[in-house]
Amino acid sequence: MSDYPEDIFSERDDIDVDTLANLGPLAALAGIWEGTRGLDVNPYIDAPRRQAFVERVELQPIDPQSNGPQLLYGLRYHTRVTKPGEVETYHDQVGYWLWEPATGALLHSLTIPRGQAVLATGQASADARTFTVTAVRGSTVNGISSGPFLEERFRTESFTLTVTVHDDGAWSYEEDTVLQVRGRPEPFHHTDRNRLTRVAPPTPNPLAREVKAG
Ligand code: HEM
Repeated sequence: MSDYPEDIFSERDDIDVDTLANLGPLAALAGIWEGTRGLDVNPYIDAPRRQAFVERVELQPIDPQSNGPQLLYGLRYHTRVTKPGEVETYHDQVGYWLWEPATGALLHSLTIPRGQAVLATGQASADARTFTVTAVRGSTVNGISSGPFLEERFRTESFTLTVTVHDDGAWSYEEDTVLQVRGRPEPFHHTDRNRLTRVAPPTPNPLAREVKAG
């Protein structure tokens, strides 16, 4: 049994189009950010490899999204990571952060150019300063899909991401991607963390800009 309404087609007619005012815990993440003290631990031949990294993240508000009666507010993001002083992309990631004010549901989608897609879910109140989303391989709700090579050789079992918003306006994340590398007895914790400082404010969503312009 679920609490979902019987009428799954009718949309609400009282939607506030100002996404920035309705993002709840995600409001603190809106904008353009840079982090220079990232740390990645990734699987390598003999031992885990540790690598410092720098990162630029753009998180921009999108127009409110309705699935029938379900109303979501969110941010579209792009993360690009390089090694310090280098141009070549070390890690790249695109997706959405979504929050449902009526229930506190959090959804975080990520796609990376290794051929992987993840939908991680969690729960957070409007004023939460820290929140976690998780995904597990095999789930049809918060799942992980990998291309054939990765699924066979570097199987991703789970993904956990915790975001913390700090008093100075910065935010940080810690993530743990658990891999079962072929031929290894133990799962490998591929971890990443960074602290992001705002370098530019967000651009309001298209509908909010139109309403403001009259
Ligand atoms: C800041 C975040 C991340 C960075 C900097 C990063 C970086 C890396 C690096 C350097 C490798 C080793 C590449 C190689 O040896 O060819 C790797 C492997 C891998 N990463 Fe990440 N990663 C990040 C996040 C993620 C996330 C979120 C996922 C999936 C949910 C993921 C999935 C994988 C997989 C499946 C591998 C094994 C494939 C391989 O070693 O070639 N990574 N990552």
